[in-house]
Amino acid sequence: MPELPASPTPSSPTPHAAAKCTRPVLRGAAVMVVAAFGCGAYALAFPAAVPDTVGEAAENLTGANPHPVVLQRPPVAPLTAMAQLGKQLFFDPALSGSGQQSCASCHSPAHAYGPPNGLDVQQGGIAMNQQGHRPPPSLMYLYRQPNFSIGPDASESDDAATVVQQATAAANVVKSQKVAGGASTSVEMVPQGGLFWDGRADTLQQQAYGPLLNPVEMANTSIEQVSAKLEKSPYAKSFTQLFGSRIFNDPKMVVSEAMFAISRYQVEDPSFHPYNSKYDRWLEGHARLTQAELRGMRLFNDPNKANCAGCHVSKPGKDGLPPMFTDYQYEALGVPRNHKLEQNQNPHFFDLGVCGPYRMDFKEQTQYCGMFLTPTLRNAATRAVFFHNGIYHTLDQVMAFYNERNTNPGKLYPHGPDGEIEKYDDIPARFQKNVDVIDAPFDRKFGDKPAMTQSDIQDIIAFLKTLDDGYKGPGN
Ligand code: HEC
Ligand code: HEC
Repeated sequence: MPELPASPTPSSPTPHAAAKCTRPVLRGAAVMVVAAFGCGAYALAFPAAVPDTVGEAAENLTGANPHPVVLQRPPVAPLTAMAQLGKQLFFDPALSGSGQQSCASCHSPAHAYGPPNGLDVQQGGIAMNQQGHRPPPSLMYLYRQPNFSIGPDASESDDAATVVQQATAAANVVKSQKVAGGASTSVEMVPQGGLFWDGRADTLQQQAYGPLLNPVEMANTSIEQVSAKLEKSPYAKSFTQLFGSRIFNDPKMVVSEAMFAISRYQVEDPSFHPYNSKYDRWLEGHARLTQAELRGMRLFNDPNKANCAGCHVSKPGKDGLPPMFTDYQYEALGVPRNHKLEQNQNPHFFDLGVCGPYRMDFKEQTQYCGMFLTPTLRNAATRAVFFHNGIYHTLDQVMAFYNERNTNPGKLYPHGPDGEIEKYDDIPARFQKNVDVIDAPFDRKFGDKPAMTQSDIQDIIAFLKTLDDGYKGPGN
């Protein structure tokens, strides 16, 4: 996404003051630093008004954003009757086969609508003893998730009807991975958008059917069963008020409206998209980053170092939309197999994301095997489980994976009977060419110096924590 231009300079102090700050900059770096001190109070109060070089020096000194922006947040309004009904449904355990599990059990409001614990995957089912297949993602900010499509890198095509055709056309492209950060080597057709780790649902309404009927989640056996529960629920009256007195004659319609109501709740309730992290406040020029957070941010954005922003976009859009920390694209990172998952007890089972087995429409499109959605990093630091198979539980482990997957794989992957390191052990050998080895930090080779030092890693983690909503400080 292109960077947002700096917002207009404030009217006071006068442009004259700004000009005084500018002149010494031309005389070289040493003078510039002096100038930065000299203009420090000014740069500190009006960071947007100073030129870039002084701005960066001021950023170093104060942690303030030299180029604050105006972020476009969704308007806040009282919930509609539809969304209020959705809220009741979201928190109602009676909707599950076990009677014990609501949407909020796995998407906890106190945990950024993600899992409330550090289990690799959640338990569910009629007797609550079935193991899930993947860790629940956060439900925050999904109102901006585009529909699933296969298209050129960085496009936001929403032509979902022809995705299989698009994929077939793209099958000839050897590498469907992108070069993160922009410089593209060929026309690359990449999967993007969609809900779930593999993009198999497009709308929040369509998505909500999944957990309701999934035998390892809410485990209802049929639409009719769900409709009958709703008819007996304390809020049955809301259904007849909103959809007419005959609604319960049509179970499919009842459940469809219920799912729509849940999706309206997620779209309307501000708790799903507050944009009140420290980083949002910093973007707006209100909060200051610590030196560690500042260093972390620069490493995060550096295309030759951590390069996180190559996939987890950190800059606001031209339109002032706050950055989502995902490019909505799919990548095969080759995270290690999680042997604690029951499904992985079968050595022939592989969760390959876009090419199946939880979605079946792309099973022939093997160039997408191993690819999973790039998740948002907003509130990621509050999670206790990471990646599509829940293999990691701390950000230190995640960072070690990014840093040492290529340079020191023996640390991350098991050794086979012959002593060989079984790299990418959660992807069958014939699909391992799909794994991204181009984008930094994955461009380093075996034995190379890793892209990040231990202190770089701690700084990046400090920066990741600024992406947690609910920052209590200036501007909030
Ligand atoms: C037993 C735990 C569990 C329950 C209960 C549950 N979910 Fe989920 N949810 C998950 C998991 C696991 C995923 C990821 C599944 C996948 O990628 O295949 C998910 C994914 C989602 C997504 C897609 C998120 C994204 O980033 O793509 C949405 C939206 C969602 N759930 C909403 C709901 C709603 C609404 C309910 C209640 C009707 C619900 N969930 C109940 C576990 C659960
Ligand atoms: C080439 C694209 C790419 C780059 C570069 C990248 N990521 Fe990711 N990131 C992904 C994808 C794709 C996933 C999900 C992979 C999976 O589960 O198999 C992911 C997952 C994550 C997760 C887990 C989030 C969750 O909800 O489970 C974290 C944390 C994360 N990345 C942080 C980073 C950091 C920090 C950097 C920089 C060091 C970085 N990423 C660089 C694509 C990328």
